[in-house]
Amino acid sequence: LGNGLARTPPMGWNDWNAYGCNVSEQLVKQTALAMHNNGMQAAGYQYVNIDDCWMSSARDAGGNLVADPAKFPDGIAAVAGYVHSLGLKFGIYEDAGTATCAGYPGSYGHEQQDANLFASWGVDYLKEDWCNIPFGSFPGQSHQQVAKTLYSRTRDALAATGRPIVFSMCNGWDASVQPWTWAGPVANLWRTTTDIQPNFSSMLSNFHVNRGLAPYAGPGAWNDPDMLEIGNGMSATEDQAEFSLWAEMAAPLIEGGNLVNASSSTLSILTNRAVIAVDQDPLGRQGTQVSASGGHDVLAKPLSNGDVSVVLFNETGSAATISTTAGAVGKSGASSYTLTNLWTGSVSTTTGTITASVPAHGAVMFRVAGGSTTTNPTGAVHANGASKC
Ligand code: DGJ
Repeated sequence: LGNGLARTPPMGWNDWNAYGCNVSEQLVKQTALAMHNNGMQAAGYQYVNIDDCWMSSARDAGGNLVADPAKFPDGIAAVAGYVHSLGLKFGIYEDAGTATCAGYPGSYGHEQQDANLFASWGVDYLKEDWCNIPFGSFPGQSHQQVAKTLYSRTRDALAATGRPIVFSMCNGWDASVQPWTWAGPVANLWRTTTDIQPNFSSMLSNFHVNRGLAPYAGPGAWNDPDMLEIGNGMSATEDQAEFSLWAEMAAPLIEGGNLVNASSSTLSILTNRAVIAVDQDPLGRQGTQVSASGGHDVLAKPLSNGDVSVVLFNETGSAATISTTAGAVGKSGASSYTLTNLWTGSVSTTTGTITASVPAHGAVMFRVAGGSTTTNPTGAVHANGASKC
């Protein structure tokens, strides 16, 4: 979306994965403070986002949404103010239908009123879900057509507030909507998958859906394979693989864990600046699959300084040596290349072979420098809405 926002994938936190409906003012404030103090904010995490279940069950007499007074006794504006006081940004959740997925009032028919309220509260990011859509009011229209209509309304409503608000669409789990094919001019990011769960097979299946969508991503317009599950139940090896893959795919880095009690291992994964730099690279290209054989994947992502980021990912349950070449990842014209291992920091040189022993369910990530970079034809086009809206 050409609203000037999310020119690199948004980074932050959302409560849903770890807490579900148990969201509260205290949780949001404690988490924001943790992010401020634990190195995450300094590493680039910015958005502190609440998900479903923050509301009361009915709008007020004026039709305005109301925060649940038990969960948010001081109201949303006060929480947003606290988050802002730490130098962070604040995000909220709504739904394009008549009710949210958990049954709280939806924005359908109240799009401008809700956008105005969010802007008045100091909201910087809106995630809009896709439950309880009144398809009967759109006779003969496909889910995709209805989604275009409703999300365009919210995009326009947000723009009309004059406040910069990142717009995150959460409709890609409805297989017929396929937001990546049309959402470049509508939203800054769009979910491409069903809800992630904190286990390897769920993470893997979201990766499989998202990895083929590189042509649709670019600055201001990102494929979203759902929130990170770092520290939520996978092994440290699997967490590191998720973080590598999400960065390689230029995915939003919205952590879904408990940050108040995050372990040092979780934080060291989340704050790996070399990996974050790949995700946040200003060229804004989503990495593409170079090869996939027997569950051994190689992905390559061209970077703005001419380097290429390479992920060797082992989907299988046995350790394996995974190899590729400089030529296969888009590098040529040098007699040797420098490889920096982004997880260990070790630097080596190669005349062309890029290889590593990769643990079961693990990923090794290199930054490859030297020579020149050839354009990867499958990643050359993107759906940056800047020229379209
Ligand atoms: C479905 C979304 O995909 C989830 O991320 C979460 O927002 C829930 N709805 C909330 O009800």
